Formats: sequence, structure tokens, C-alpha cells
Amino acid sequence: MDTILIIDRAGTVSKPLETALADRGFRIDIQPAGRAVLQGLDLDAYRLVIADSDLPGRDYTQLLAEIRAQAPHLPVIATAETGSVRGAVAAMQAGAVDYLLKPVHPEALVLALQKALAPIDSGYATLESSNSGARAKHIVTQDSQVRELLQVAENVAQSQANVLILGESGTGKELLAAYIHQHSLVSTNPFVALNCAALPEQLAESELFGHEKGAFTGAVVRKIGKFELAGKGTMLLDEISEMALPLQAKLLRVLQEKEIDRVGGRQPVPINTRVIAVSNVDLKQAVEEGSFRKDLYYRINVIPFTLPPLRNRPDDILPLAEHFIHKFCLENRKPDLRLTANAARKLQAYDWPGNIRELENTMERAVIITSGGKLPAGQILLEDEPAGRANTIELRPGMSVKEMEQELIARTLRKVNDNRTQAAEMLGISIRTLRNKLKEYREKNAA
Ligand SMILES: Nc1ncnc2c1ncn2[C@@H]1O[C@H](COP(=O)(O)OP(=O)(O)OP(=O)(O)O)[C@@H](O)[C@H]1O
Ligand SMILES: [Mg+2]
Repeated sequence: MDTILIIDRAGTVSKPLETALADRGFRIDIQPAGRAVLQGLDLDAYRLVIADSDLPGRDYTQLLAEIRAQAPHLPVIATAETGSVRGAVAAMQAGAVDYLLKPVHPEALVLALQKALAPIDSGYATLESSNSGARAKHIVTQDSQVRELLQVAENVAQSQANVLILGESGTGKELLAAYIHQHSLVSTNPFVALNCAALPEQLAESELFGHEKGAFTGAVVRKIGKFELAGKGTMLLDEISEMALPLQAKLLRVLQEKEIDRVGGRQPVPINTRVIAVSNVDLKQAVEEGSFRKDLYYRINVIPFTLPPLRNRPDDILPLAEHFIHKFCLENRKPDLRLTANAARKLQAYDWPGNIRELENTMERAVIITSGGKLPAGQILLEDEPAGRANTIELRPGMSVKEMEQELIARTLRKVNDNRTQAAEMLGISIRTLRNKLKEYREKNAA
């Protein structure tokens, strides 16, 4: 059963709410408001807090700040005297997710509860903060350049500085951003990711900064923007080069003034969010071409990291491949597979235009189609082999005729999307022979 903490001075709030909440299966814990109200309370035990704002302003702000510091994910709903807009605004600024006017109507309360307890808007990837370790994704690397980069990232993480991460597609930029968050002093606060490319321009502003009820047609309820959701945590702005110019201007203001303007809002809301911007295009060039603001570029480029492409870190190919094999074997409930020497050579010879993401996908496919303890080269299907290489088979002294045959059959099948009739025809063998050979390979792999 979820417990709701009600912080109330005069009993004006808790009395009418008790039955409404109990009827809906909530347990409630009522605490008198006062300076030391949080002392001795374990905030983790609560699902939500309702705190009456009928306290001297300073104390209330203080109270909400303390709640956020101790339990950043715990939503707080404020209650305020009717007509006390100031109180409501102050409460929202201090981090309340909603406010209710007194006397509180049970229906209004239920609505507010539903909103506050709904899972955070799932339209975009929102990674939970993961200081649990178990959740933390592991960065695999043997490459000295990347190791150095991680070392620097760990130090930078401890600062407040905004960070820019550059690198080709699939090089691990998002993973590095999460890593920085995990190593930061705000790792228990939210880590909110927003893909600027996936953001329709008209919605972008309210997505980022939120809007007040009635700010525009369709704004029927107040919406908290991503920045406010991130709070004192980390905001990842992915594909920042895709952000429209007018929004870039607004983002610049956020970074400079450390406050946001909700659409339709009367007052700016202070924020204290660390921004990590990510891009796979050369932002400097975007600046020269006029599609990215120069001043914003300088703002976010204080501490830049560039992740090298996989082809420039050859020492990482096999450790990563093994990491992914292990991961997908676990996921698919298969015993671990071992790369054959030929398979390892094949992985190392390829230049991985899709970088680590491509390696990950390749290994997933290989694990799924392979059974038995070994993962031979024939099971590694490379998507984007340069034409020259894809159409020739590398013949190496030391390779057996069988291996060559297996490789030729695998490539032919891939060429014709696994159409066995067509493959047999191209290979000049009967379908039956082809089937027998495939069976033989499978058995060999299984052995
Ligand atoms: N060093 C690494 N160790 C383990 N896994 C990694 C590593 N680098 C990247 N990955 C994995 O590879 C995949 C791609 O990484 P990520 O999404 O961080 O790349 P990206 O640079 O953001 O790509 P894109 O530009 O396409 O968005 C992810 O599944 C990620 O977990
Ligand atoms: Mg990414």
C-alpha cells in the first residue's frame, strides 16, 4: 500500500482528505508543519507528499528544497489558500509538481494524484539515474585513447560544467553521457534524455520548458518541461545540431541565466540542471554554415569529448565482440559462445562504418543463429562490407577447403536473403546438398 505524507499546520488540509485517500487505498501519515518536520522521517517510505503552503514563505521553500535533496523523485503537491497565487507560484518554483486550492475537493485531489504518480512522460527515452551499479552500463575498452578520455570524464563529471560529446554514429556518445551522470555529484537525481531530432518544432519549446494551463489552444493542463523534470540532475540534449534556431536562442538563455520560461508563464523558473549536449555532426562546421548559433556553440563547447570511431581503436573490437556475445547469450538463454580464430580475424578486418552499434547488432544476429560452443566466421554477417570485399572471398593459406566452402555458402545465402533455392542454383549444387551441408555446419558448431 502506498503511503502519502501530509504536512499540515492547521488540520485544514488533512481532515477532508483522509477519507478520500483512504477510499482509494492510500495509507496516510500526517505530520504537523514545523521547522523540524522532516527530522526522523524516512522519505523513501512515501509515494507522494502533500504539503500545505500556509507557512512563512521562506520556510516553505526550504521545506521543499529539503525534500528534493533527500528524495529527488518524490513528488510534492502543494496546497494553497484560494487567491494566494503567490503561494502557489512559490510552491511550483520550489519544486512542487502541482498545487491545489483550499478547501481541497477530493476530485481535484484524485486528478492531481493521478498526474503526479503517472510514469514520467514516455515519449522520449528517460534513463533513470542508475547509481545502483547493477543498472549502470559497463563501458568496455582496452584502447588507451578511450581510457584516457574516461579518466578525464570522471573528473569533469564532478564539476558543474556543461559537456559536449561528439563522435560518429554508434560510437557510444549516449553511453558516455550516462557515465558522466553516474560519476557526478548529482547521480541520484534524474537523468533525462531528449532527442532534438525527434522533436516537432511547434512542440519543442513546451517539451523543453513546459507550459502553463491555457498557454495555447490545447494546453488544458499545465505541463512540466524536461528541464524541470531533470531538476538538479542531468539533461542530455541528443542530436543538438538538429535544434531549430529560435529554440537555440532560448536554450542559450537557459544556459546563461539558469532559468527557464514556461510557455505562457509569467515568471521565469530557476533551474540548476547540468547539460550534456551530443552531436554526430561537426558543430563547428554547422556554425560556419549558419545552422548553429556561434554563441551557443561556445557555451556548450566548454568541455568537449570526441569518441573515436571503432576503426581507429582496433584493440576494442574483440573485447567488445566478446562483451556482446556474453550479453546476448544471457539474453537468449544460451551457453556462452567462443569466437573461432577465423571469426576473430573477420571482425578485426572489417572497418565498422556503423561503429559499436553495428558490432552489437552483428553479434546479436550471430548469437541468435548459432548454437553450440563455437561462433565461426560464417555466422558473422556483415551488413555493409565494401563492395570489393563483399564479393570476393579472402583465400588464406592455412584455410581448409571446408572452411572456404562454408564461407562461400554463407555469403551466397546472405546475398539472396536466405533463399535456398536461389542459393543452390548459384552455387551449382542441389537444394538437398545445400541443406545437408547447412545441417553439417550446425552439427559441427554444436559439437
Ligand atoms: N565502450 C562500450 N562498451 C559497451 N557498450 C558500448 C560501448 N560503446 C557503445 N556501446 C553500446 O553500443 C550502442 C551504441 O552506443 P550509443 O547509443 O551510446 O552510441 P551513440 O554514439 O549515441 O550513437 P548514435 O549517434 O547512433 O545515437 C549502445 O547499445 C551502447 O550501449
Ligand atoms: Mg545516441
